[in-house]
Amino acid sequence: MRQPLVVGNWKMNGSLPSISMLIAGLKVQLSGLSEVDVVVCPPAIFIDRVAGLIDESSLVLGAQTASEFDSGAYTGEVALTMLNEFGCRYVILGHSERRALFAETDAQVAVKFKAAKEAGLIPILCVGETLEQREAGQAHAVIAAQLGAVVDLLGVESLCDSVVAYEPVWAIGTGKTATPDQAQEIHRAIRYQVAQQSENVAEQLLVVYGGSVNAGNSESLFSMADIDGALVGGASLKVDEFVAICRAAKC
Ligand code: 13P
Repeated sequence: MRQPLVVGNWKMNGSLPSISMLIAGLKVQLSGLSEVDVVVCPPAIFIDRVAGLIDESSLVLGAQTASEFDSGAYTGEVALTMLNEFGCRYVILGHSERRALFAETDAQVAVKFKAAKEAGLIPILCVGETLEQREAGQAHAVIAAQLGAVVDLLGVESLCDSVVAYEPVWAIGTGKTATPDQAQEIHRAIRYQVAQQSENVAEQLLVVYGGSVNAGNSESLFSMADIDGALVGGASLKVDEFVAICRAAKC
């Protein structure tokens, strides 16, 4: 039985007052929701503050990215061991914005995944196709390559205690969600790819959906057999929306 997971990716949003209000609201409204794991991923500068704010709640802390290096002359970067020290349990890796805007490659993301495991964090590996790739019939191949880069480097067992997030690039921040059937088709393919090497790992693997998830569409997405939760952008900044999504994830 896979416990549903909802992750809020705040991206580069928030201020000290707004994050305090957001966490205060989530703490009140999510108390008692034990059947869903809820993670918040603030901008790195706010991680320490949020770690204090979520104290004595079931909210869990995550980061939006990290360096693949342990330490050294990497100006502006944050190491996974540092994130661990500051209470992060999860880290989003290979988000499409990192791939598109910061030129992260499949191979680099796989190295970050390795570093995350070594630092004791749970990686949330983002995969997903662009609109052009979907229209060219390449969605399955693109996603298989993104996932394959990790499996080839680290073996399929590395996906134990890890999360895969399917985020079609064309659905991110556009208001265009994949239909439940479109998302389910890809989620099933991801699980099938893993099952080729280990049915046990495939059965345990959490595969969450991201891309314009909101209070209105989350329930139908979560009703699909292979959708185990959500990676939420814009709606994770609004208490009522995010709470509704978390509640919908309760199976
Ligand atoms: P939106 O929910 O704003 O579309 O963002 C999705 C996303 O990129 C989460 O990582």
